[in-house]
Amino acid sequence: MNRVILLASRPHGKPSAKDFKFEDIEMPTAKAGEVLLKTVYVSVDPYLRGRMSDAKSYVAPFELNKPMNSALIAEVTASEHPDFEVGEFVTAGLDWKLFQTSDGHGLTKVDPSVSLTAYLGVLGMTGLTALMGLQEIGKPQEGETLVVSGAAGAVGSIVGQIGKIMGCKVIGIAGSDEKTMALKSKFGFDEAINYKSTDNMQEAIAAAAGDGVDIYFDNVGGDISDAVIFNMNKYGRIAICGAISSYNDTEASKGPRLQPYILKNSMLMQGFIVSNYAKKFPEGVKQLSEWLKAGKLQYAETIVEGFDQIPQAFMDLFEGKNEGKMVVKI
Ligand SMILES: NC(=O)c1ccc[n+]([C@@H]2O[C@H](COP(=O)([O-])OP(=O)(O)OC[C@H]3O[C@@H](n4cnc5c(N)ncnc54)[C@H](OP(=O)(O)O)[C@@H]3O)[C@@H](O)[C@H]2O)c1
Repeated sequence: MNRVILLASRPHGKPSAKDFKFEDIEMPTAKAGEVLLKTVYVSVDPYLRGRMSDAKSYVAPFELNKPMNSALIAEVTASEHPDFEVGEFVTAGLDWKLFQTSDGHGLTKVDPSVSLTAYLGVLGMTGLTALMGLQEIGKPQEGETLVVSGAAGAVGSIVGQIGKIMGCKVIGIAGSDEKTMALKSKFGFDEAINYKSTDNMQEAIAAAAGDGVDIYFDNVGGDISDAVIFNMNKYGRIAICGAISSYNDTEASKGPRLQPYILKNSMLMQGFIVSNYAKKFPEGVKQLSEWLKAGKLQYAETIVEGFDQIPQAFMDLFEGKNEGKMVVKI
């Protein structure tokens, strides 16, 4: 049996189950020059929310009544392709289907002895996003103070640890006491703030930082980011990685006007998309692998089981139900 998940409707506000449609479809067979792939792990990511809308962005929107897709790990179960053998594992951006064929274009082989899911997280887009944004925009210097929002998530938990490797004092912001505890005990952050139980975030960040904030790695935007930015030091750098707090907004929110503050403090604020740094990916993966092997990087995963759970796992990202990378095991 084969099965696919289609985009049924474009959400207004938070996505819900009715925006996704499951269909049983024919089992494909690999023709000459093709492989048959069986999906084993699916990455669900906040940016997919943007693709459910039809607004112009850096990736094309999903089409209505067409398969949704994201980064997957798949096993080659039949091969008519000279470069792939049955039993090998690959990763690529592929459809949300149990089985699909591919002509091999865009498939990257992965080493199952490392950990298949690591290629969707710390050694995949997640780890590279953390490394590129921090290195290229944050430019951390030893002794500086780094604040990370969305800190217990896939990207944030890696950013904080790289900050520690680079000699920074690291403060994480996350949405539960379990998460703030994990930030300190598992990921080695110096300080952690639960934004859901803190009344005055600006004061809490000032107290945790002691001497102001030099670098802010922003995964969430909104009020949390305003509170961090008003604590920044002269020549502070802000890497805008994500703005998940606004992805389900139906109207643009009006925040404080930051320009005079950025001017006075000679600050840099820059957004980025990880693919901007594609040329640096091979050296980035090498660096992340070395840190991982040396035990300098820990990573967390929330693994949900079952193909039919993909939409719910995705929607749960907006409720903070994941610690580390959210992955669906098929
Ligand atoms: N620029 C790029 O190229 C790039 C690449 C990858 C990811 N990103 C962005 O980076 C961010 C993190 O992505 P990820 O894959 O690592 O996801 P993630 O952090 O693993 O998962 C999302 C987390 O966001 C937090 N969250 C949800 N709603 C929130 C809200 N209203 N306010 C504050 N926090 C909220 C939740 O944690 P809490 O429990 O702490 O609320 C949730 O666990 C996202 O904004 C994503 O779009 C950007």
